Amino acid sequence: MSLLFSPLKLRSVTLKNRIVMSPMCQYSGQEGHVTEWHLLHYPTRAVGGVGLIVVEATAVEARGVISLEDLGIWSDAHVAGLQALARRIREAGAVPGIQLAHAGRKAGTASPWQGGKPLHRWTPVAPSPLAFHEGWPVPEELDAAGLDEVRRAFQQAARRALSAGFELIELHMAHGYLLHSFLSPLTNRRSDRYGGSRENRMRFGLEVVEAVREVWPEDLPLWVRVSASDWVEGGWDITDTVAFAAELQKRGVDLLDCSSGGAIPGVKIPLGPGYQVPFAAQVRLSTGLSTGAVGLLTEPLQAEAVLQANQADLILLGRVLLRDPYWPYRAAQALGARAWPVQYERAF
Ligand SMILES: Cc1cc2nc3c(=O)[nH]c(=O)nc-3n(C[C@H](O)[C@H](O)[C@H](O)COP(=O)(O)O)c2cc1C
Repeated sequence: MSLLFSPLKLRSVTLKNRIVMSPMCQYSGQEGHVTEWHLLHYPTRAVGGVGLIVVEATAVEARGVISLEDLGIWSDAHVAGLQALARRIREAGAVPGIQLAHAGRKAGTASPWQGGKPLHRWTPVAPSPLAFHEGWPVPEELDAAGLDEVRRAFQQAARRALSAGFELIELHMAHGYLLHSFLSPLTNRRSDRYGGSRENRMRFGLEVVEAVREVWPEDLPLWVRVSASDWVEGGWDITDTVAFAAELQKRGVDLLDCSSGGAIPGVKIPLGPGYQVPFAAQVRLSTGLSTGAVGLLTEPLQAEAVLQANQADLILLGRVLLRDPYWPYRAAQALGARAWPVQYERAF
């Protein structure tokens, strides 16, 4: 029996299959607002058969956008557009989820097709005043009041995500953005209770989880995406990730989405099919926490094999879904499975 096409229950939410659309910035927002592009792009993948869509990194503060065209959720005015988006995703057959994000020191860039360079419109914030790279801004170190502001921004964003009708939140703690930069010793040089030991570096991320869990209903799932490794000697690694996963689990996180990299530039990552799967496998094995595998998973048999080997509970697909919104249908055919259980069938 195909596991890829088996339902999965997370708290009160049932996914019709184990195929998840990985969050991917569309660089198509207007001052954080949803546009027609999003209203076409996401429902298309839902119609194509994915069980869950995690809408792209959506900024909890205006100073926390990656590009100026990112989606935002820092004001009540953003809710109406997000509500339309969540509704359409659901109507098209998938569960609507959203990634809440803060870009930290990597905030405020041009979109990739405009070069992706920092625009220097404002001073970004970070755990320590270290620029990401040459030519990038030196961020302001967050003080106690700043930390409080960011914590509240995540909490307020979770409230808004709920009122917009999203059924799942993923907190972005990967790819060198704000919450990852607290975890990694490469980017966190603080000497207060938020820096130094691993326990201290984990503190801020865990506080954000607690703040979000306070307002996010108990019957709805909460995920975290991490960079399971910085791929650098002396950086954050899989042992740290396992320790972090155990703490996240205690605070009501339901799944760890295991990505990697992004803390500092110029790192050589051993890219290859399923190269991040071992991270998902190790976290699952060591902690019992559910995991999502992501990264260069493109073939139905490969995705099915990851699940059959108990390496992950779900498969997140990125670029392959940009190329082929109907990937789930093709996969069902390749695996000789029904695309979804009969109760989810519509007019197909
Ligand atoms: C255009 C694009 C935008 C992305 N935006 C995000 C994002 O908003 N949040 C995130 O966590 N990862 C983001 N990613 C990473 C993807 O979610 C995914 O982890 C990565 O592409 C690897 O999976 P793949 O090999 O299936 O594409 C993005 C990737 C691409 C290609």
